Amino acid sequence: MFGGNWTTDKLQRIRKYLVAYTTIMRKQNFKQYMYIDAFAGTGWLTLKQNEQSELQSELPLFAGIVEQDSKTNLEGSARIALQVEPRFTKYIFVEKDKKRFEQLENIKLEFPDRDISLSNSDANMFIRQICQNQNWIEKRERAVLFLDPYGMQVPWDTVAAIAQTQAIDLWYLFPIGVALNRLLKKKGQINESYRQKIDIIIGTNEWYNVFYEERKQLGLFGEELDIVKVANFDSIKQYFVGRLKTIFPGVADHPKLLYNSKNNPLYLLCFASGNRRGSPTAIKIAQDILRRE
Ligand SMILES: C[S@@+](CC[C@H](N)C(=O)[O-])C[C@H]1O[C@@H](n2cnc3c(N)ncnc32)[C@H](O)[C@@H]1O
Repeated sequence: MFGGNWTTDKLQRIRKYLVAYTTIMRKQNFKQYMYIDAFAGTGWLTLKQNEQSELQSELPLFAGIVEQDSKTNLEGSARIALQVEPRFTKYIFVEKDKKRFEQLENIKLEFPDRDISLSNSDANMFIRQICQNQNWIEKRERAVLFLDPYGMQVPWDTVAAIAQTQAIDLWYLFPIGVALNRLLKKKGQINESYRQKIDIIIGTNEWYNVFYEERKQLGLFGEELDIVKVANFDSIKQYFVGRLKTIFPGVADHPKLLYNSKNNPLYLLCFASGNRRGSPTAIKIAQDILRRE
């Protein structure tokens, strides 16, 4: 781990990528290279009781999996990105919660010499709009986009809209343990609404036949057909990397599992690169950052 807990670990890895990215982009001839933070928070890490209950209310079975972070005044992704040198040409921060957004607005005063655009809106709507409403390649615009949701807030359609620009590098904290694996019951009897939630974040219902298998068991009345879970964190990880590869020209093959202090895997830190020409370098850098202990 890069020191600290899984939250600071993920942020330090992303910071390293941002530094490498702007160092390269500064020497190229792009009109804009932006940092887009779609789940920006307040600018500070404040994982407190209210955030835990927000996560738990999404699906009650998440109770207890995310530990409380007692630290305060640690910088969050937005502030970290703003301090990266060389700088991005523009910063876009999206935060849905009104109170958090009001706090986030202070960064404009703190960083008056940066081009910062703030939106108090839903990340998915916002992303689809900026991805679909302009031709990124023609306008010579590029971006790094960070998706840092608590749980299953990012439908596959949003990820596909990002890929379709062919101009955006994506860091995505996929909720593999905090949500997905918890919904994959051992016997394959998954409540229909949970099944739909999984379909939405993975973008297909084919996962069921990958994560479950029919097995013949010898029961009291002869052979019976059972459905058993064959998925584990490793196979889910590989499956999700494969899904990303269907829409991005480059995907880091070894995303990083982030664990809480009780050693429960919470999130999978994934990287995908949107531009065919830029992607070999981007993947090499990201994979190196993801591999480090
Ligand atoms: C895990 S926190 C982000 C932390 C932040 N990246 C940082 O490092 O400080 C997730 C944030 O997303 C916000 N959020 C939740 N759902 C959202 C949505 N649909 N659109 C935009 N923001 C959302 C929450 O209010 C919360 O502040």
